[in-house]
Amino acid sequence: MDTTTERYGELLFSHAHEGEGERLDALARALDPLTFRQLDRFGPADDARCLDIGSGLGTVAAGLAAHCPRGRVVATDTDIRHFPPPAERRGWEVVRHDLAVDEFPEGSFDLIHARWVFSHQRGRDAALARVVRWLAPGGLLFLEDMSRFALDSSPHPLYRKVSRAMTESVRLRLGTDFAWARTFPQPLRALGLTDLGAEVTVSAVGAGPMGRFWRLTAEQLTRDLRDVHGISEGQLAEFAALVEHPDFSDLCLSHHAAWGRRPHP
Ligand SMILES: C[S@@+](CC[C@H](N)C(=O)[O-])C[C@H]1O[C@@H](n2cnc3c(N)ncnc32)[C@H](O)[C@@H]1O
Repeated sequence: MDTTTERYGELLFSHAHEGEGERLDALARALDPLTFRQLDRFGPADDARCLDIGSGLGTVAAGLAAHCPRGRVVATDTDIRHFPPPAERRGWEVVRHDLAVDEFPEGSFDLIHARWVFSHQRGRDAALARVVRWLAPGGLLFLEDMSRFALDSSPHPLYRKVSRAMTESVRLRLGTDFAWARTFPQPLRALGLTDLGAEVTVSAVGAGPMGRFWRLTAEQLTRDLRDVHGISEGQLAEFAALVEHPDFSDLCLSHHAAWGRRPHP
């Protein structure tokens, strides 16, 4: 049973946190190449109406705007402080919007994308059902989210111990489901979407953006890791040095993509 009450960004991963912009930037640098490889494959029409939910820094929205110069691209987030100012945005707009409660009109988008957002939502399947209604008939839902199975099998004891404690802390505080994306494309099939597909990629830590993302995530969880999971200050320091060390590499969170189309009535 999920007894947690804290919401994403209220305390943990708050956009007001000093390192959060850098953490979002590291994530975008690690994942944007994977996202754009898929988007190139779908080739949204140049007049497509696109929505990027929980857009963070807006890097995917900016990429969509380049794909769809005659369309409309909307980036949403509950906290919009890390988006570039209007003068620096080319062809995309920002809306403060909470996917759990706020609406868009039925059928108003040809492509809806969300990356590493739904796993963090309580009631994620109900929220997804609402989001599908925002798609036009024939429109594409393209979801990307994470799961933890590669962390669980790490051969490195300290990396495995701290990484597992990190995901457990996030789960306990936010209700994040680190196994939901492992079921892709089932949540899309359950909503009646067609032309389904799924792909999984596992990013590596070590020198590079995913190592930086994982170190910065651990930093935000320091108190939980120490007080709830019994990880010492020395182990935390060793972990921080390890995950960005050029001679270290191991697998991090898995990155699952899934896509499907809203059928015509
Ligand atoms: C892990 S970050 C991912 C950011 C971006 N999608 C990316 O992959 O680079 C999760 C983002 O989802 C946003 N978010 C979380 N819950 C949300 C909600 N209920 N509605 C809209 N955005 C939400 C957060 O504020 C944050 O920017």
